[in-house]
Amino acid sequence: MSEALSAPREPTALMTPLKILFITPEFAPLAKTGGLGDMTASLAKALAAAGHDVRVFLPCYGGTPPPVPLTSSPAVPPVAQWRAFPAPVAVNLAPRHTEFCRVWESAPAPLQPRVQLLEHHALFGSPEIYGERNDNAYRFGFMTAAALDFALQSGWHPDIAHVHDWTAALAPVLLNTTRRATPLGRAASVLTIHNLRHQGIETPDIMRYLRLPSWLWSADNIEDHGRANFLKAGLYHATKITTVSPTYAREILAPEHGCGLDHVLRHRAADLSGILNGIDDAEWNPRADPRLAARLEDDDDAAAGAAAVSAFKAANKRALQAELGLEPLADAPLFTLVARLQPQKGADLLADILPDLLGRARMQVAVLGTGDHGLEQRLLAIAAANAGKCVVRAAYDDALAHRLIAGADFFLMPSRFEPCGLTQMYSMRYGAPPVVRATGGLADTVSPWRENGANATAAGANAPTGIVFPDATGGSLLNAIHEALRLYYEHPADFAALRRNGMARDFSWHDSAARYAAVYASAIAARRAGGD
Ligand code: ADP
Ligand code: GLC
Repeated sequence: MSEALSAPREPTALMTPLKILFITPEFAPLAKTGGLGDMTASLAKALAAAGHDVRVFLPCYGGTPPPVPLTSSPAVPPVAQWRAFPAPVAVNLAPRHTEFCRVWESAPAPLQPRVQLLEHHALFGSPEIYGERNDNAYRFGFMTAAALDFALQSGWHPDIAHVHDWTAALAPVLLNTTRRATPLGRAASVLTIHNLRHQGIETPDIMRYLRLPSWLWSADNIEDHGRANFLKAGLYHATKITTVSPTYAREILAPEHGCGLDHVLRHRAADLSGILNGIDDAEWNPRADPRLAARLEDDDDAAAGAAAVSAFKAANKRALQAELGLEPLADAPLFTLVARLQPQKGADLLADILPDLLGRARMQVAVLGTGDHGLEQRLLAIAAANAGKCVVRAAYDDALAHRLIAGADFFLMPSRFEPCGLTQMYSMRYGAPPVVRATGGLADTVSPWRENGANATAAGANAPTGIVFPDATGGSLLNAIHEALRLYYEHPADFAALRRNGMARDFSWHDSAARYAAVYASAIAARRAGGD
């Protein structure tokens, strides 16, 4: 990997505390459709814990702030602590068009991020985050302008605007144009790509709506075949660009994964780095997770520790089988999959091979996911034909996701591409070796088992933690599942070692938050030197 693509690391403790504004459509558990919400929440917490002043701006989907505490998570205060900013917030849109909104802020708490919720009933009054709507350009264009204008109006001027995915990607453009001459103009911007596939190719009317200067309407700015491409514009204007794993940072420079923007990314390669996501190890903690049937009992003694892991896994598997109506088999491997059912995730590859596989192999499969309706129906039909062996829940259920990961012997992630992927890290932490395709963050986080037994006892970063397969095909996935079956039935000592290796890995934000802090520092230096 080139130096530019692997971000430098500096100990966070040595950094000057920064004012960091996140602009994001998702922040778990307030608003989440996938890993973006987990990532923004856990990174914001890690940066705030390191002493930075972090404010997170997002829409309040569904109208007003949630009336009850949503979680034990300290990042999200109960409703009693939401305070409306005293004045209406004036958002500067087209000439002579100022639109007003309300912003709710969480009470300041030491070493915690401060959450800012945008209330605007016409744009965000319904609960969906993206939805099949025709006004997303205006919704997220407004969110972005409101985040900056609220910072201006409240007198809190960030050093860094860290913006996430296409919905917030116009913030660097606004900082370089309509807000350049304001006190925010000094702010550097960092744009994180969580998924290059989603670019926000929207109505050209956004130019008028946000009062963008006409020189931006060119192919090396916002214009894309007569439409406005939010992400592309952000890539040209952000001071620095990151994505969520080193391998994905390399992959998106080439046409196969570049989604038509690889030429822009190659143009900006010197400012692009890949920083692996961490996980929130308080939310995903096998020792304390209240959603599970049984929690892991710690023991310093190695033999007792191994027994505790086996007991933790067996109890959660038993409970999951009972909850889902699977046969109570203790000695057949249970494979689970939890994902958005989109082509990215490759669950269709599983559907292709599953009917035959379930007929031949002694194994069980449980799937939780929503998305593509046709794929949901295919998977539900396979489950109906294999009652007791296979179950499919076409739903979004956070607590069940935790139990499916804790109760699994193996966790399936046959992604066609995967910018980072969090669920494979959750599954390793919960003792379910993942079966993953070698792509993006999956390749960066899962160390493959070698069947000849050569590496089962390897230590440290080389210790195997899962099964890794090469191709996004049903055949390649089938081979990998057969490898997992042999691991389970023929190499029980290796299987136990893989479980424990994954559970011992450090997936915390410790290193990666420090890498973000280093990227912020270099973005600020570049902005202040005048070269965006
Ligand atoms: P992506 O962001 O591409 O969906 P990640 O692996 O980064 O993939 O994150 C997925 C997150 O969404 C995880 O927290 C996972 O548990 C959650 N998730 C996905 N589908 C569901 C579902 N049907 N029910 C509950 N949680 C889900
Ligand atoms: C996106 C990606 C996923 C990543 C997540 C958080 O949704 O698909 O791979 O883990 O963002 O960065």
